[in-house]
Amino acid sequence: MIAAMSADRVIGRDDGLPWDVPAEYEHFVASVRGGAVVMGRRSHEIFAGDLDDVLMIVVTRSEHAPAGSQRAGDVETALADAAASGRPVWVAGGASIYAQALPYADELHLSIVPGRFKGDAWFPAWDERSWALAEESARAGYVFRRYVRVARDRA
Ligand SMILES: NC(=O)c1ccc[n+]([C@@H]2O[C@H](COP(=O)([O-])OP(=O)(O)OC[C@H]3O[C@@H](n4cnc5c(N)ncnc54)[C@H](OP(=O)(O)O)[C@@H]3O)[C@@H](O)[C@H]2O)c1
Repeated sequence: MIAAMSADRVIGRDDGLPWDVPAEYEHFVASVRGGAVVMGRRSHEIFAGDLDDVLMIVVTRSEHAPAGSQRAGDVETALADAAASGRPVWVAGGASIYAQALPYADELHLSIVPGRFKGDAWFPAWDERSWALAEESARAGYVFRRYVRVARDRA
């Protein structure tokens, strides 16, 4: 899973991000390039236009696939379709999809944006005992942290 968040796990406000940190957004776009990207229908509407060379799999209850994407009727189907593509699999939000996909995740690529932000969407709380910090680096406007799963039975 890949997400940008504040220290208190805010990830979004209205139809976008609560901050403007271009280097972080570039990191997101570059990370998922070449991959199979699972997104909820709302996040797809917000971010898909910025992504290139991705297999876009949109989770929606609608019968219709948004233009340029594959549809999946639930998160499990989206993850299976993404894995079947042979591409690296990325779950890229939003809040509802992160919450449903967290139990299946092997790695969390988290960009922590300093400051306090008003928001209306949050990354789910994760069980610290299930994850080990594998990488941490201070970057322009954010801190990148990569966690790897060490226990499967907890989110
Ligand atoms: N900071 C970050 O890294 C980051 C990344 C991504 C998004 N965000 C933020 O997250 C917010 C959006 O999150 P959100 O939770 O409101 O929306 P979302 O997760 O992007 O999309 C929600 C939609 O996904 C579909 N969906 C969700 N669960 C489903 C299920 N089990 N089965 C079938 N369809 C399902 C539904 O689509 P239908 O209504 O079409 O049925 C639902 O309305 C925005 O503020 C955005 O900016 C932040």
